[in-house]
Amino acid sequence: MKKILVTGGAGFIGGNFVKYMVNKYPKYHVFNLDTLTYAGDLTKHSDIEERENYSFIKADIADREVISEIFNNEKFDYVIHFAAESHVDRSIKEPEIFIKTNVLGTQVLLDAAKSINVKKFVHVSTDEVYGELDFDPDTFFTENTPLQPNSPYSASKASSDMIVRAYYETYNMPINITRCSNNYGPYHFPEKLIPLTISRVLNDEKVPVYGDGKNIRDWLHVEDHCSAIDLVLHEGELGEVYNVGGHNERTNLEVVKTIINALSKSNDLIEFVEDRLGHDKRYAIDPTKLEKLGWQPTYNFETGIEQTVNWYLNNENWWNNIIQGKYREYFAKQYQF
Ligand code: NAD
Ligand code: DAU
Repeated sequence: MKKILVTGGAGFIGGNFVKYMVNKYPKYHVFNLDTLTYAGDLTKHSDIEERENYSFIKADIADREVISEIFNNEKFDYVIHFAAESHVDRSIKEPEIFIKTNVLGTQVLLDAAKSINVKKFVHVSTDEVYGELDFDPDTFFTENTPLQPNSPYSASKASSDMIVRAYYETYNMPINITRCSNNYGPYHFPEKLIPLTISRVLNDEKVPVYGDGKNIRDWLHVEDHCSAIDLVLHEGELGEVYNVGGHNERTNLEVVKTIINALSKSNDLIEFVEDRLGHDKRYAIDPTKLEKLGWQPTYNFETGIEQTVNWYLNNENWWNNIIQGKYREYFAKQYQF
């Protein structure tokens, strides 16, 4: 049985990926390693926690001694590395933990993976490492776009990409790097735009939109991201970077209005607030290289948003538990309302 280590498997994308792999590959044993920060929760895995091909390991990826011991004991075949601090706004207020987890944590994992000769290390990165595009709709990020990160979050991810690349060049480590656009879907933590909007609109609360709401993101349903990583794991050429995105560009205002409309509420819930510092104007992915490998997304923005809104309607317990306690403190500090 192949052993697959998924780091950050208690979070949003890693959590969806763990479910995807446990269900699709009964002959792979999926190990979910996560330290359970504010963004990690295991209740999302109640449907798979008893499966024979699933295990959970609580550990911090930046803890070299512990990580080294785990790798020596389990001798994983593959590593899919999602674990990270992932929220841009938090990185603007408290950058240090982003450097520790995203940069140092990645290097600790690489050393551990190298020491047991893993067959492949897939580093899950982000389109934000490329910086921002202007509003010319014919410009896209390709794998050859120079890295020019603008936030402490994206700078930490770009740094980790560089270290992963260096381990390929220097030690011939079998790696791939994926750079995906904005994800959305089930179990998305309600600090990010789409789940924040859905949860607040459902509670008839104001939705904070930064600046003029005209910044553009390229949205991809999380299940399509999972299938892309599965393909890269099995078919990706060693040392290569693959961009992931589905040509679903929307302004933030369009996204918020689509959700308000889907829930039959009023646009009066929109509250324009002070802009994010260093707010990137536009992201847009050219996924040609991944499509040539055989990937196609299954959702467009309309079908994906409909599925997601329904999921939040049917899973109120999950997000209602999150938006209590510490989340309230975070929200008050971030938005002052
Ligand atoms: P998330 O914040 O929802 O989940 C991150 C997970 O990592 C949590 O379960 C958390 O507990 C865990 N974690 C954090 N620090 C850790 C540590 N030191 N040791 C072990 N576990 C730790 O993040 P997400 O949105 O699911 O993003 C996952 C990955 O995908 C990240 O690497 C992110 O950069 C990348 N990514 C995200 C998006 C997006 O739109 N969300 C898009 C492209 C790429
Ligand atoms: O592009 C991939 C990235 O997408 C990932 O690497 C990050 O981990 C992920 O968090 C996401 O980053 P963004 O900053 O684009 O996502 P966020 O949901 O925070 O914001 C999306 C857009 O919405 C952005 O232009 C800022 C805006 N926004 C966000 C929040 C939280 C608002 O207008 N109001 C808000 O309250």
